[in-house]
Amino acid sequence: MFIIDMQNRLLKTLTGKSVDRPALWMMRQAGRYLPEYLKTRQEAGSFWNLCFNPDLATEVTLQPIRRFDYDAAIIFSDILVIPQAIGQKVEFQPNHGPILDALQWDQICQFQDWQKFDQGLSPVYQAIRQTRQQLNTSKDLIGFAGTPWTIATYMIDQGKGHDHSKSRVALNDPTTLIPLIEILTTAIARHLVNQVKAGADVIQLFDSWASIVPHQHRDLLLFNPLEKIISLIHAELGHSVPLIYFGRGISDSYKHLCQRNLPAALGIDQNADLHQLHQDLPSNVVFQGNLSPQVLIDGGSALDRDIESILTLYRNRPMIFNLGHGILPQTPIAHVERVCELVRAA
Ligand code: CP3
Repeated sequence: MFIIDMQNRLLKTLTGKSVDRPALWMMRQAGRYLPEYLKTRQEAGSFWNLCFNPDLATEVTLQPIRRFDYDAAIIFSDILVIPQAIGQKVEFQPNHGPILDALQWDQICQFQDWQKFDQGLSPVYQAIRQTRQQLNTSKDLIGFAGTPWTIATYMIDQGKGHDHSKSRVALNDPTTLIPLIEILTTAIARHLVNQVKAGADVIQLFDSWASIVPHQHRDLLLFNPLEKIISLIHAELGHSVPLIYFGRGISDSYKHLCQRNLPAALGIDQNADLHQLHQDLPSNVVFQGNLSPQVLIDGGSALDRDIESILTLYRNRPMIFNLGHGILPQTPIAHVERVCELVRAA
């Protein structure tokens, strides 16, 4: 008898196996839209205390699974643990977002103390071990990192504002960025390997600021480093790990990315034309996305319509249901429940 498995839908989808319905999780699923998160966040005192306390990080990682029974948990951490671990101090001030010390290019690009790096990030790995122990084996655990470019923009602009003005100037001569991209590539691959060794089943790379890079530099700054990270992970572990690449705002480069034949599922943002991409890209490539976080807030008939539109693809290609970017703090819980209901009925 042919049995379609109802367990580990994320991992199964990413490894080419059949599932009974699309896997469901949401970017930033542990966060401020959940009252239980706000409570633990207050207990922790600061965002960094929450990230670097394995018990509390485990607790907030599991909260959205308890409430919504998503198919996967994503470890509670941040992409900016990397600059912090290689010597550029990062602070989170309430309602200000991250603020980084000035970037000391030479010192950072020569970073070599990988034991200190592992030690600094050990609470993240401990949280992964604890989460894996407490998470039902039918659920997958996602480890993650930012990409070299996206982390570099925060380091160069010190996290300030959203104009990325210094990063844009640096792009005038992209070769000057290479030493920074290279050290970040090494650090990110190491962080991902450590997460897999601790128990992560799947990894996601967040390239939230990919679209700032002009087309002619995307191989150099985005896709070559992605390829390098994939090969470093493979070399270190002796096997590949299912990887989702979320390149926000660059779906116009996805055809090119597929031609490079990198073994990655593609995260798709809400401004991309999902159905056009479906026409344009090979049918075996896994898509993840792309409900608008704003439509999720608005709810109503637009929400139902957009969910159904995404679900129509699922019959014809491997598909992971997600948002097109992180869930926003003002999102009503009832609207998230509606997503769960419709995706489970697919
Ligand atoms: O998805 C999850 O639930 C796991 C946790 C997670 C966080 N950040 C927790 C967080 C993940 C996967 C991230 C990724 C992240 N962090 C990205 C890539 C995704 C994206 O949104 O584009 C980026 C760019 C960052 C950097 C970052 N962290 C910023 C710019 C900010 C401040 C803006 C904001 O959203 O408040 C953060 C803080 C942050 N990271 C919060 C959370 C829950 C909010 C801080 C708080 O609770 O006090």
